[in-house]
Amino acid sequence: MLEVQDLHKRFGGFAAVSGVSFKLEKGTIMAIIGPNGAGKSTLFNLITGHVEPTAGRVLLAGREITGAPPHEICRLGVGRSFQRTNIFPNLTVFECVQAAVLAHHGKGRNFWLRADQLYREQTEALLASLGLADKANSLAGELSHGNQKQIELGIALASDPDILLLDEPTAGMSSGETHETIALIARIAAERGLTLLFTEHDMEVVFSIAAHIAVLHQGRLIAEGTPDEMRRDPEVRRVYLGERS
Ligand SMILES: Nc1ncnc2c1ncn2[C@@H]1O[C@H](COP(=O)(O)OP(=O)(O)O)[C@@H](O)[C@H]1O
Ligand SMILES: [Mg+2]
Repeated sequence: MLEVQDLHKRFGGFAAVSGVSFKLEKGTIMAIIGPNGAGKSTLFNLITGHVEPTAGRVLLAGREITGAPPHEICRLGVGRSFQRTNIFPNLTVFECVQAAVLAHHGKGRNFWLRADQLYREQTEALLASLGLADKANSLAGELSHGNQKQIELGIALASDPDILLLDEPTAGMSSGETHETIALIARIAAERGLTLLFTEHDMEVVFSIAAHIAVLHQGRLIAEGTPDEMRRDPEVRRVYLGERS
């Protein structure tokens, strides 16, 4: 589904991502973990076209997408959410998600159309599957942080992606919100047969839903495998789990 080949990104003299390669099979759930500054968000930005690689290739279903603009990569089936919440606080929840559905269908809000009626059913169905139906008319900015992250998930799903990249989907959430959100993500991924790539700092979350884990450290992929393999890997324990050998 997704293949990254020897990807590099330098910011000036600093190597944020160095020679990262991995493959993501269709329908799998994979987590990228690593300490702050490891290069996780940069790696996501390289895949989704928000940052151009210094070297290396990104392939989607065998087709090279390296350096393509974000909207093109999105149109090809890669949805994403950002680490920082990125919603319009003065729109209602309905309007936020509807705007993303409209954008996917190549339509802006148009003076000549009753914009509120466009793709109403699709938007409502998406809100219902996110458990946000009863908040459709609330202002997005007035919701809890957890609900705002759910709106972002809705925005990412509006483009009906095959593969979804979530950058710290539970960042800043309480542990109750975290568990709810992870259950929601796992359910939606299963329902839609999504291929999911996510970053997360909460190891409990990672081990609960990822079938496959890759560990990034100082821009390099130092280990990759099942949760059990990662738990046992001495390098991972030393570098990431902070153990001394
Ligand atoms: N646009 C940028 N310009 C310069 N340095 C950057 C930029 N984006 C990220 N970095 C640096 O690259 C490193 C990796 O950042 P990031 O990918 O955000 O890590 P993570 O998401 O794993 O915390 C950090 O040291 C960060 O300061
Ligand atoms: Mg990050």
